[in-house]
Amino acid sequence: MTLFDYRQDELFAEQVPLSKIAAEFGTPTYVYSRAGIENELRSYQRVLAGHSHLICYAVKSNSNLAVLDVLARAGAGFDIVSGGELERVLRAGGSAAKTIFSGVGKSTAEIEKALLAGIACFNIESEAELERICMVAERLQKVAPVSLRVNPDVDAGTHPYISTGLKENKFGIDSGQAFELYLRAAEMPQIKLIGIDCHIGSQLTELGPYMDAIDKMLTLVDRLQTAGIVLEHFDIGGGLGVCYRDEQPPAPQQLISAVLKKLGRRKLKLMLEPGRSITANAGILLTRVEYLKHTPHKNFAIVDAGMNDLIRPALYGAWQNIIPVRRGSAESQLYDVVGPVCESADFLGKERSLAILPDDLLAVMSAGSYGFVMSSNYNSRNRAAEVLVDGPRMHLVRQRESLEQQLQLESCLPE
Ligand code: LLP
Repeated sequence: MTLFDYRQDELFAEQVPLSKIAAEFGTPTYVYSRAGIENELRSYQRVLAGHSHLICYAVKSNSNLAVLDVLARAGAGFDIVSGGELERVLRAGGSAAKTIFSGVGKSTAEIEKALLAGIACFNIESEAELERICMVAERLQKVAPVSLRVNPDVDAGTHPYISTGLKENKFGIDSGQAFELYLRAAEMPQIKLIGIDCHIGSQLTELGPYMDAIDKMLTLVDRLQTAGIVLEHFDIGGGLGVCYRDEQPPAPQQLISAVLKKLGRRKLKLMLEPGRSITANAGILLTRVEYLKHTPHKNFAIVDAGMNDLIRPALYGAWQNIIPVRRGSAESQLYDVVGPVCESADFLGKERSLAILPDDLLAVMSAGSYGFVMSSNYNSRNRAAEVLVDGPRMHLVRQRESLEQQLQLESCLPE
């Protein structure tokens, strides 16, 4: 069920008209639905209820403190990839003991911070990283809980930029080297081997690649058990796709049932790292039409959000629906919806049929994941505001950036 729907001809976020949000906070503004986020999390929790599990929301997909707060209150754990994300989780009321640390380039300072905070697990991506974690743990007189991220060499069938489980990708430990590395890690007193994980890519719309990866991981789990290394958890990463247009990804329930079947009688806690499938459809980007420009070749709707606000269309050729906030009387025409940034890749959508007039509001749908988090100050544009709607209430959860804030870290040369 979408939490963004028309009442008569006016688009609402839960019980709040989007036009009210624009009037109060301006545009461009990201708008999230609390119920939308909670519903998606719940669809994972419901299927997992009878099985030992931890759902670690991938913070990178939307790291606004209020979004993390909603998820922490609803019982989620977190998957982080930086010290900054750890800080966000802690400030949002999340617990380090339910947080796992992924990523290929963890710095010494980040490892220290995570160890001192009492992180649940490091997902290790290379032998060199294992050695560094071991060294830091020794210095801090701690034992580091560790899982090895295996690169299973499977084709996730997604955009090449968001495919991560092929042997030519930088992610994970080559599946041919993982067994030996587990044996080495088992000898390190500062390391506690607790799991295995993989993450093969994002926006996956088929179960097949997951199943192939899981088969390979389970072969390794069983081989390790024979060698006396008994793991506690099995982490299948994130990656479940969402419907942007007409994709039909499996529901969390289908994925999880299939995984539990594969795990069989093995006593493994199931861990997941979903990002997009929790927040993408719980958010939109609200933008206003500045100008309509008609040429003999094309019509352009020039809006006040650009590729610096939402880079997915420019970067991946991603398609996200764009709909008017008020269904009006203007005549429908085909428009390229473009931003003010000086790049031809600055578009939010191409050839969209829209009945709009200048000054109208538009909603770019499915923008709750990899939206604001990937935004930048390109063209010295202030980053957008973020609003979280909760039933009839709206909360400004990130102010619109000001030019003062944007410039405060810079200075001219001394006299
Ligand atoms: N775990 C790890 C280790 C990851 O690298 C990712 C995403 C996730 C979990 C969450 O994956 P999700 O459930 O959200 O698919 N910016 C791109 C997506 C990049 C995904 C990066 N890793 C986009 O806008 O499509």
